[in-house]
Amino acid sequence: MIDLKKTANKIIVSPSILSADFSNLENEIKTVSTNGAKWVHIDVMDGHFVPNITIGAPVVKSLRKITGAILDVHLMIENPDKYIPDFLQAGSDVITFHIEASGKKTLKCIEMIKKADKIAGISIKPKTRVKEIEPYLPLIDLVLVMTVEPGFSGQIFMPKCAQKIYEIKNLKPDIKYIQVDGGINDKTGEKCKQMGANCLVAGNYIFKSENRAMAIKSLLK
Ligand code: DX5
Ligand code: ZN
Repeated sequence: MIDLKKTANKIIVSPSILSADFSNLENEIKTVSTNGAKWVHIDVMDGHFVPNITIGAPVVKSLRKITGAILDVHLMIENPDKYIPDFLQAGSDVITFHIEASGKKTLKCIEMIKKADKIAGISIKPKTRVKEIEPYLPLIDLVLVMTVEPGFSGQIFMPKCAQKIYEIKNLKPDIKYIQVDGGINDKTGEKCKQMGANCLVAGNYIFKSENRAMAIKSLLK
């Protein structure tokens, strides 16, 4: 298992398996984790919070058996407090839920994840302001800034969303991880890193690339 402390404050690439070949996930993960990606991003969608359905805790549990990579679970679901225990049980290392979905249960969600000694993250959709998560910043280690509307891979990066990185950095300069997700490639990733992001999620850019190793390398630069 990778020591999370060693990956803090360095650039982290978290390939989103939503763009991978689901019939061959073990190999797909190997092609990225043997080429510089220490995290693997798992997009969980429920068809309610976002208009798409993907995978659930049983898949995370299976992936836990075949990889030592950090399992970075992005919950795009309603009522995250109800499902976080399943995802902890399944072996997730990082659990990020959406503030738009957690509402009054936000604190409960954070506490559950931290009690299990895992990394707690909160994500904000493009139209959600940083102000919404400000009260929780002292309690969490990761903020995920969505740079597309959540729901699908392969969308175009929204530069305006990335401005939020500055705000977060300002409010919590020592935050461990500022993650960006949606339309990340070498150019958009570079912009986000310059603004202060240190964890880049990328789906299509990595998995649809002819040279995944090079794609990951270009993000790590
Ligand atoms: C979108 C997901 C992303 C998506 C990224 O809702 O949260 O993780 O898979 O895919 P790309 O990098 O192709 O935009
Ligand atoms: Zn995601």
